[in-house]
Order: sequence, then C-alpha cells, then structure tokens
Amino acid sequence: MRDSMPDQRASAEGPVVLTPPAPGEAAAPTLGIAVPAPLRREGPKKLTGEAMYTDDLVFPGAWYGGTVRSTEAHARLIGLEQDPDFDWSKVVVMTAKDIPGENIVSNLVDDHPALADGEVRHHSEPVALVAAPDKATLREAKKRIRPLTEPLPPIFDPLESDHQFAAYEVNRGDPAAAFEEATLIVQGEYRVGHQEQLYIENQAMIDEPRPDGGITITGSMQCPYYVHGALKRALALTDEQAVITQAETGGGFGGKEDYPSVVAIHAALLAQRVGKPVRMIYDRHEDIASTTKRHPAIVRYRSGVNADGRLIAQDVEMVMDGGAYCTLSPVVLSRAVLHAGGPYECPNVHIAGRSMATNTPPNSAFRGFGAPQAGFAHEMQIARIAAELDISPAELRRRWAYREGSTTPSGQVLHESVAALDVLREATEAADYEGVREVSRQTRAVRWGQAVEAGAGFNSTRVRSASGIGIAMGWHGAGFTGRGEIMMGSTAGVELGADGVIRLLIVNTEMGQGTNTVMPMIAAEVLGVEPSEVELAPVDTSIVPNSGPTVASRTVMIVGGLISRAAARLRGIVEERSGGSFADVYRADAAEHGATRVDQAYESEVDVEFDEETHTGDAYPAFGWACAVAKVDVDLDTGEVRVRSVVSADDAGRVIHPLLSEGQVEGGTLQSVGYGTIEEMKLDDGRYLNDRLSTYLIPTSMDAPEITAILVEAPFSHSPHGAKGIGELPMNVGAPAVVDAIHDAIGVWITDLPATPEKILAALESSA
Ligand code: MOS
Repeated sequence: MRDSMPDQRASAEGPVVLTPPAPGEAAAPTLGIAVPAPLRREGPKKLTGEAMYTDDLVFPGAWYGGTVRSTEAHARLIGLEQDPDFDWSKVVVMTAKDIPGENIVSNLVDDHPALADGEVRHHSEPVALVAAPDKATLREAKKRIRPLTEPLPPIFDPLESDHQFAAYEVNRGDPAAAFEEATLIVQGEYRVGHQEQLYIENQAMIDEPRPDGGITITGSMQCPYYVHGALKRALALTDEQAVITQAETGGGFGGKEDYPSVVAIHAALLAQRVGKPVRMIYDRHEDIASTTKRHPAIVRYRSGVNADGRLIAQDVEMVMDGGAYCTLSPVVLSRAVLHAGGPYECPNVHIAGRSMATNTPPNSAFRGFGAPQAGFAHEMQIARIAAELDISPAELRRRWAYREGSTTPSGQVLHESVAALDVLREATEAADYEGVREVSRQTRAVRWGQAVEAGAGFNSTRVRSASGIGIAMGWHGAGFTGRGEIMMGSTAGVELGADGVIRLLIVNTEMGQGTNTVMPMIAAEVLGVEPSEVELAPVDTSIVPNSGPTVASRTVMIVGGLISRAAARLRGIVEERSGGSFADVYRADAAEHGATRVDQAYESEVDVEFDEETHTGDAYPAFGWACAVAKVDVDLDTGEVRVRSVVSADDAGRVIHPLLSEGQVEGGTLQSVGYGTIEEMKLDDGRYLNDRLSTYLIPTSMDAPEITAILVEAPFSHSPHGAKGIGELPMNVGAPAVVDAIHDAIGVWITDLPATPEKILAALESSA
C-alpha cells in the first residue's frame, strides 16, 4: 500500500499537507486510517444507470401532480379561473382551503404558506395544485386554469424594503476611535447576485397514501426530518403517519435543504385527495423559476490601517435580499455577519447585517450559506488595501491572518486548529504566486496602458488579452452556529444486527458528496473491521433516528463523531461479553446474543458560550481555512474572462477520504468560479428571465480551469477523528481570487459579481 500513499509531510507549524497524487496514482487515506480508501459506494450504480432516482421509480397507478403558479410578483389573490370547456371531473384541483392542517411550510418562521391564500408575494408562487391520471391531461388542465388577481405594488430593492426578516450585529472594541487613529482608510461597496444551485437532478417527490391515513414520501432531499416536520403540520399527521424516505439524490448544494418540504406537502395533499400515489417531479424550467437561490447582498465596508501597518478597524454593513418568505434567511445572515471580518486579526470591529423581504422567490441555503457573500467583500478590501500599501497581497495576509490565540470579532478565542498561514503557504507555493506576480508587476504599466488602448478601439493591433494572478483567503465555521448542535441534540446509532450485519443508523443523506462512503470508514476504523463490512440502514424516518440535517458541513464532524463514539461503545460491549477482538467475534456474538444497538446522542465536550442576541462568544466549534490562487486571461475585445487555473488549499481538520475531499474542493472551486464570472440571474418584475439551462450558464468542462486541490490537516481535538468540514469551505475563495486576478490583468476592480464581460468592458471604458 505504501507505494500508493500520497506525498505527505508535516509543516513547521504542524499540520499535515496532502499533495495530490500524480496522474494515475491512487489516493490513499492518512492519519491512521488503516485501510485503503474505498470506492465511492454508490458510484458503480450511478455509472451503470442502475441507481434509481425519484423519477425512475415506478409506483403502479400513480397520478401526476402539477403546480399552478402566480404570474405576478405581488397581487391580491381573488380566486381561480377554470375554463368551463374542460372536463374538470377527470382531474383534482386543490387550493389553500383544502389543506387539512396548517397552511404553512414549517421552517424558522411561520410566514410561508404551502399555497397562497389571499395574496401572492412572488412570481411563480404556488396558488393551486392539479393532479391527473396522465401527463397529457395534467398539461391540458394546467393550461386551462389561472389565478385571478389584482396587482399590488411590489418591492424588488432590499434597501427599499420595510419588512425585515432578521438583523444581527457583531461588536468588538471601539471602531470609531480606531478609525481616528488610522492612517489609511479603504472603503467600498460590493454587490453579489442570486446564484442557482443547479443540482443535476431537479426537485422530485412521490407521495403515497398510507393505510393509517398518513403519507409515505420517497424523494430527493438533504434533510428527511425537515420534510417530516413540515408534512406533519400541513397535513395534521402524527409522527408515525409521516414516513420520509430518501431516494437516490442528484445533488443538493443547499437547494434541497428546505425547499423539498414544499414539494412534499404539495404531492401529499394531492395523494390524500386522489387516494393514489402522486408524482411531483419538477422540470428544469419550473425548478429554476420557483425554487430558492443564494441571497443577493449589498456590502458596505470600511477598513482602517494604522501607521505600523496593522489592521485596526473594520466597519461592515450587509443587506441581504431574502425574497418573499423568511425560509433560512436569519441563519444565513448570522453566518454572513460572523464571517464578514474575514480570517484577519482586528481589535475593533463593527458588523451589522439585515435580511429584508422583497417580492422575488425566497432565497435560502446554498453552499457557503452567507459566507461567500461576505468573503467577496472582505477579500476585495484586503486586495485593495494591499494595492494602496503597495505590498504583496500574500504578504499582507501573512501578517494579518489569524493564528492560535487570535480573537475573532464575536470574541471567540481560537485555541487550536488554526491553519490560515498553512493554506496560504501551500497555495502560494504551489502556484508560484510571488514569482508570477513579480513578472506581472514588471509588465503591468505597459499592460494596463495597452488594455485601455485596446479596449478603446476595435481595430487596435495591440494586445488583445491580458493575464493576471490573484489570491483570496477564507474561513468557514464548521457545523451549526453557536449552540445549534446542543439545541438540535442529534442521535446516531450503530447496530450489530441479529443477522451479524453491522449497520449505521443515520438520516444524513448521500447526494454525491460521499456520506455513504465516508461514514462506514469512520465506523470501521473504530470497530477494527473493513469498511465493506459496515452497511447503512435505509434513510427512512421510520427506521433511523434523527441525526440532524445534512447541511453546514456538519456530517463528517458531528455525525461522524457520533458514529465514532457509538461504534466504540458497541465494540466495548461485544468484546467484553464475547472475549475477543470485535472483528473476530462479532458474527458469533450476534448469533448468540441477538441484535445490539447503541444510540449516541450529541453531547458537547466543550462548554459553548454563545449569545445569539448579541452574537458574542464561540460562534463555531472550529473553523476550516482556505486559500485560492487564480490565473486568468481577460479578452480585451469582448471582456470575457478565461480562468486558466486555480490552486485551492483547504484545511479539513482531518481527511478521511482524500479523493472525495479533493472532489469537494474541485467542485466548490468551480461553483465559486462560476459565481465570480458567469452565473447571473437576470430579473424583470421579480421574474427570473434566464430560467432555463440554455440561458442560466454555469461553467462546463470546457470552461473549467485546471484545478489543483491541496488538502491541509489541522485536526480539531474535540471531534473524535479530528475532522472539521470541507463541503462549503472552497466556495468562499474562488470568486474573490478570480476578481483579484482580473484586477491584476487589467487594472480595474470589479465590485459587483459576477464579473461579466459587460461589466469588465464598462470598467475598462470608465478607467480609460
Ligand atoms: Mo447547506 S447551504 O448548509 O445545505
């Protein structure tokens, strides 16, 4: 096995760095996991087409469900107009008054109706449901029904909204006094737009009536117990009457965190009425037009530097656009303000954020959860300060980045697992950042001059493209904010069945990220068996306990920790009574003693002090750290940016499965590059104009830069295996690194994401 181990070395500061294996060389796990990294468990089935996604599942006699949606952004809903020439007896139509329970999509706040009642607050809001025995009839029925409305004035600008979903402030020191002392003050306003998750599989649910009057749901989702809770309330069901099972899920990225509750409730209402299973499968157009997006944000930022070159003051104001209903906006905002200072030591900080209602479809979870919006702003500030000081942006970050013992704006002292300098070093060395930057600096005056000239005249024979290098750093709080895990109180189980099979009982979902591969590895290591000997119980709320939602990069750290502890206890029980090592005796133990199940509830080892009201204290158990270096070419005629390469160094605490972790870094980097360059939602009267795959563009393999993922390990001592999280972290750094590189290439700052060709040409023109 030794030959296939990745190159591994300990840095002066301690963390282990895993450099990517050479092409053709297999990655292998490190830090004491004594088994080769297994293949992705569900991989072969996905490759061969054997995997059954929701739309592949056959439910005999099932009807097809559809949603009638508002074509206005804000209106009084008077009723429904149904074409009298259509035979309505063939179909089922339902409105808000047909909801047996509460007309609420249960979430943080009870403001979101399952079906609009009296008022519509966004374009494509569900106003009625239709079910038909076949697709053609459903299509026809949907065409002949429309909401009757009277328009109301809409609000699209969050700065003009007077309906606030949440507001938080973070305060440290005395920024006002510190700004008095500052010898350099840099201020800026940054804007980021909507981003669509664009999971490869659309939202999909099949709901089947149960003999006990309840509903069994099979569908595509991240969080079965969120759906469980929402279904119970809307349909007035007991715990047992709502059974939620996850089908193969083709990606989520946060877009299947809370939205699946809407689809599940709709299908369940129809299924109960029809008395047969109902399939509610969105097509791509409906999915993009109506489901949640990343929150747009406006960030005003002021930073003060003193004569010694220290960052002494930061003042940040963030306004997020929540869309029509609250969804998860408060927690997205909370994470945004807690990350808005960036990974830099600063004694005087004021951060104020608010999330405002507008008449667009609700915005909610998306990989990064507020941190990418904040990250773009804090990294633009650092980049612009470095330019003002004429100092290497990497060197400035080296001076200011958090170290062990640093204090964050919320007052959290970072006692351990701080790898900011490590990721910075690894990314800059691998990309030869200083070397490339020096060449870039030497040619800059000529290049920037030519850029302006070339941009000015179509027939210029001078330079047609300019290259640049850029850098960004980021941090990401691992797991829920503050006391979230303590309040959630998740439980995971490990069972040795009477059949001698080891099963993990968790409700955390595989959606492409590797949960089903990594969790058995964690259990196997503790039990001393092979990962292939560990099975996963079905993700079904009637079978597995609530181990919490699959969000917030918490699965490996928190649920993996529960599995690790439960497995250790199971091993102890079996070894004590059967007298031998678990691996040798567990099958005989099961035959003799029957099933043994150990459930492990979450208990915090550390006394987490976090005050939600004031946003002070320990915001996260630990942070992951990331640094990206991007190289770009900017076409001076078209303004188009080609991202040539990105090196991203990311600290996951401990890497359980190198290949899957690299996959997370590659995917997150590409999604962040898309966020920074081409992913743009255009709106007109609150409607998404480019609500199709042909018009909402994301990077394809043709656009993808060469991505180098460097995994850094700064273990976290309060998680049994040392792992933090890796899913969201890389999403925070790609976009600002690209925008910094665009500045290096052409000498203009793009402060409004994405950096589209139009914005780049306009910036070039105004700088000429
Ligand atoms: Mo995630 S954006 O915490 O589903």
